[in-house]
Amino acid sequence: MRAVSTSLVCLTILAGCGAPQPEQVVRLEADNPLRPIGPPPLGIDINLRSLPVPPTPARVRLGRWLFFDRRLSRDGTISCASCHQPAHAFSQTTPVATGVGGAAGTRKVPTIINLAIPNRWSSFKDAPVGAYFWDGRARTLEAQALEPVAGASEMGSSHGKMVSTLSRVSGYGRYFAEAFGDAKVTRERVAQAIADYERTRMSGNSAFDRWRHGRGTVSDAVRRGFDLFAGRKAGCAACHTPPLFTDGTFHNLGIGWNPDTRSFADEGRYAVTKDSMFEGDPGSFKTPTLREVTRHAPYMHDGSIQTLREVIEFYNRGGIANPDLDDRLRRRGPIGLTPSQINDLLAFLVSLEGTGWQDEGPLMFPQ
Ligand code: HEC
Ligand code: HEC
Repeated sequence: MRAVSTSLVCLTILAGCGAPQPEQVVRLEADNPLRPIGPPPLGIDINLRSLPVPPTPARVRLGRWLFFDRRLSRDGTISCASCHQPAHAFSQTTPVATGVGGAAGTRKVPTIINLAIPNRWSSFKDAPVGAYFWDGRARTLEAQALEPVAGASEMGSSHGKMVSTLSRVSGYGRYFAEAFGDAKVTRERVAQAIADYERTRMSGNSAFDRWRHGRGTVSDAVRRGFDLFAGRKAGCAACHTPPLFTDGTFHNLGIGWNPDTRSFADEGRYAVTKDSMFEGDPGSFKTPTLREVTRHAPYMHDGSIQTLREVIEFYNRGGIANPDLDDRLRRRGPIGLTPSQINDLLAFLVSLEGTGWQDEGPLMFPQ
């Protein structure tokens, strides 16, 4: 995290906290310019311009500031990017999150890439329904964005406090006006701007995509790994469905099962819906994307598996037996992959490292 530019603060104070000087505005905007809404990277079928409410350059610019702005938290110490770290594909490398004042969370920080299309039931174009969080409890990115602001173990603030803090930052006024028509700060506008910034974080154009689209080659290990991944034996693609490498629904692999108490530390989807028939048994969690998966060990909703090799070995053993283990794992039992097949699967996962999402965040913020 970089510090908010102090010179901007001082200059603004010297100027009587009035309108920022023109040269300050030029520097601020050069650091976070308006960018056209571009096409998706190779291999990703997400056309932002065809969304029902397409992101605009002005909202994305505002959202980029807000996503990285620590003033959204109770004590000005934590931004969205403190946990969703750009260097780790907007995830992080600790098992569970730590929020404001060191408060411990209970789940691993998921990556924020390729979330623009709510890919759950996305064939119903008229009623696209998203499933955000490990348990899918938020239906839109807008609804999702406001939860951590008020979460005690995340940013520890309240929506009222967030709105009043941001309203006092006079420099934000012109950018709310640019994005929404007038300078008023509302929680809905903050949510929409952040969500639009998130929508632009796409990952594609990986070695895998270039190979599949006839624009490059990959090693034999990657080819064999992909055949295993998509074939019946390992059967990974049944849930990690290309091109996003998630089916957007919920499965129980047995992670977090305690055989002594015969219960899950975290019931996941079931705690939200209480509907094991259609929605997910106790212990089921949303299938995470595997794009950029090399960048944010440890793995699973509780960060309990340290490396990708150990994840594959976990599947190789058939998951963790429990009464609600997903049928695909239960029917198949241990997979029987050889050590060299495990290496091939690993090589394939590495080939999913792509581009389109990278961002270090702005250096300067409106004051
Ligand atoms: C203290 C760490 C922390 C902070 C700060 C934080 N998040 Fe998160 N975020 C998490 C964790 C942990 C989860 C998973 C929680 C769950 O599933 O219950 C999550 C989940 C998400 C998801 C869902 C991703 C998916 O694939 O379903 C999105 C989107 C997201 N956060 C955006 C944000 C935004 C926007 C902010 C800032 C307003 C933010 N987060 C602040 C830790 C954090
Ligand atoms: C039955 C559906 C299903 C199948 C089959 C499946 N996965 Fe998963 N995968 C999931 C779910 C669900 C999770 C998250 C589970 C949790 O956190 O409790 C996950 C997590 C992962 C993770 C960790 C990602 C992260 O960000 O933490 C990796 C890596 C992974 N799977 C790879 C594979 C590979 C390789 C295969 C084939 C050997 C495979 N998966 C087969 C559903 C599946």
